[in-house]
Amino acid sequence: MPLMTWNDELSVKVKEIDDQHKKLIGLINCLHDAMKGGQGKQVMESTLQELASYTVYHFQAEEKYMQKFSYPGYHAHKLKHDAFVKKVSDFQKDFEAGRLGLSLELMNFLKEWVTTHIMDTDRQYSATFVKAGLK
Ligand SMILES: [Fe+2]
Ligand SMILES: [Fe+2]
Repeated sequence: MPLMTWNDELSVKVKEIDDQHKKLIGLINCLHDAMKGGQGKQVMESTLQELASYTVYHFQAEEKYMQKFSYPGYHAHKLKHDAFVKKVSDFQKDFEAGRLGLSLELMNFLKEWVTTHIMDTDRQYSATFVKAGLK
């Protein structure tokens, strides 16, 4: 069973962004599968790298739209993105240095963070983005 599944409650009503969230959830599931399947360090490292890069790409896409549409919550939202990027990057460094392993605790942190962020933070820009013509 996948760790996370996308559902309509997570929709921000913009297909491009919903698709990016689905991809992000898919990457977290890949990491979870790699951990559960006892994959080697290299597989986990590259999956983690893919997740880290895609997270940055996705956050930049949201930030670009928030700026373009003069969304008032931009700065507070970006701070949350920056904190998460730092956390993932720190984790990546610790993992690569062998100081930390993948754990269910970490997987649950990723799951909870992404779910809460989409539900509580991303969904707040939904009306602004839809009004600006994104669909
Ligand atoms: Fe997002
Ligand atoms: Fe966001």
